[in-house]
Amino acid sequence: MSAPAVPPELREFELTGMTFWTKPESFRMQAFAKMRQMAAMPFVPLVKIPFTKSAPGFYVVSRYADVLTASRNAELFSSEPASNTLMEMPLWASRFYGSMINMDDPEHARIRRVVSRAFSPRMLERLDDDLVRRAVRIVDDVIAEGPRDFVAQVAARLPIEIICDLMGIPDSYQDMILRHTNTILGYTDPEYNGMKSDDLDKPPGVADTLRGAYRIVKAGSDLFRLVRRLGRERVGSGGEDLITKLVTPNAEGESLTSQEIGSFFVLLVAAGNETTRNAIAHTLRLLTEHPGQRALLLEDFEGRIGGTIDEVLRYSPPVIQFRRNVTRDTELHGVRLKKGDIVVMVYPSANRDETVFTDPDVFDITRSPNPHVAFGAPGPHYCMGTHLAKREMTVLLRELLTRLPDVRMDGEPEFLASYFLNGIKRMPFAFTTPDASS
Ligand code: HEM
Repeated sequence: MSAPAVPPELREFELTGMTFWTKPESFRMQAFAKMRQMAAMPFVPLVKIPFTKSAPGFYVVSRYADVLTASRNAELFSSEPASNTLMEMPLWASRFYGSMINMDDPEHARIRRVVSRAFSPRMLERLDDDLVRRAVRIVDDVIAEGPRDFVAQVAARLPIEIICDLMGIPDSYQDMILRHTNTILGYTDPEYNGMKSDDLDKPPGVADTLRGAYRIVKAGSDLFRLVRRLGRERVGSGGEDLITKLVTPNAEGESLTSQEIGSFFVLLVAAGNETTRNAIAHTLRLLTEHPGQRALLLEDFEGRIGGTIDEVLRYSPPVIQFRRNVTRDTELHGVRLKKGDIVVMVYPSANRDETVFTDPDVFDITRSPNPHVAFGAPGPHYCMGTHLAKREMTVLLRELLTRLPDVRMDGEPEFLASYFLNGIKRMPFAFTTPDASS
């Protein structure tokens, strides 16, 4: 049977191409609002990429309640063979790039148990002094250098520094790690995949596909080899860093092989680094675009920073979508799904669902309750880094907004061309230097 076509009411949005995802947020939100009102989930066909076994396309899960259903019910909505890409990859490749995020239980649960040590309150407490020290240095540097690009000078720095700290990876590797994560997560953006064609809606040619694939494979294997080597060196070393802990058996006698640590690291730098970096950049963008909300935050920073972070994550979630694979016949939002069908949960849409959020298009830092799904919905894959991400954002924003109260976006941000990540590549910014204002 042939795959269904894009419904006529959505044709104007040209959903099948990458261009849709590079349009302004407000444009994409119009498409999602229509989807939520439709009687049945729309189907989006996929363009064929050379050398890949292409899936025909995917159904878009746009409603809040349906994102909850698909996230909770992992037996019916599986993360295997992949949850973090729309490309069809062999299972070994999706595990290599996604570790447990592309696995189901019991294997997923085993790895999650072992790595959960990294996110214990004790471990996070241990990181706190470091977080403050590093945030102070980032703002010191920005004052000394003057404002150029908020992403490179501020937003990108803390998340990567903290992940390296957590893993016990020397600072000298940070540039290489950052470059490689950009390549892996920016695989649809010509700036990172090296593709010559800038027509994002045309299927890539053979040469472009090979070039893109080479870059991703090289980036992944460089990261993987670095951490696998450190894992081997640290067996029995008794160190306090996460790599040592992961190769050391826990109370149940479980540990990760150096191979599994390599893949977990690729996931961690992608999941923990690019997401938090974009959340920080979106915060400055949204506070600049909504000066009233910014004033409200500055009136009572400690009382309102928690609400501000949640509202930024609801309004502009850094992760656009995760995929699930249907394991047996079922029904969701008016569609009879079959085994093998792909559904894609769109978090920005669920976060604007008018049946859950009053005035969903209003950016309101005092919104309460705010049950957004930017970290995924409750279920086995719910984000492990929520506390760490919020802590990083709080500490950095406190330092930034207290010392540079008029810091603001100063020009158009450059967005990443991606259906997966709501990324900002570069963002001009400005502030009055403390000396000049005194
Ligand atoms: C604002 C920042 C962040 C956002 C928006 C975010 C978002 C997400 C989302 C949507 C998922 C769910 C995937 C699914 O359901 O399939 C996820 C999973 C995950 N996140 Fe985050 N994340 C953030 C920060 C972090 C940080 C700082 C870390 C760690 C350093 C982290 C580690 C993980 C891991 C390990 C998973 C996989 C969990 C599993 O498969 O069981 N995240 N994240």
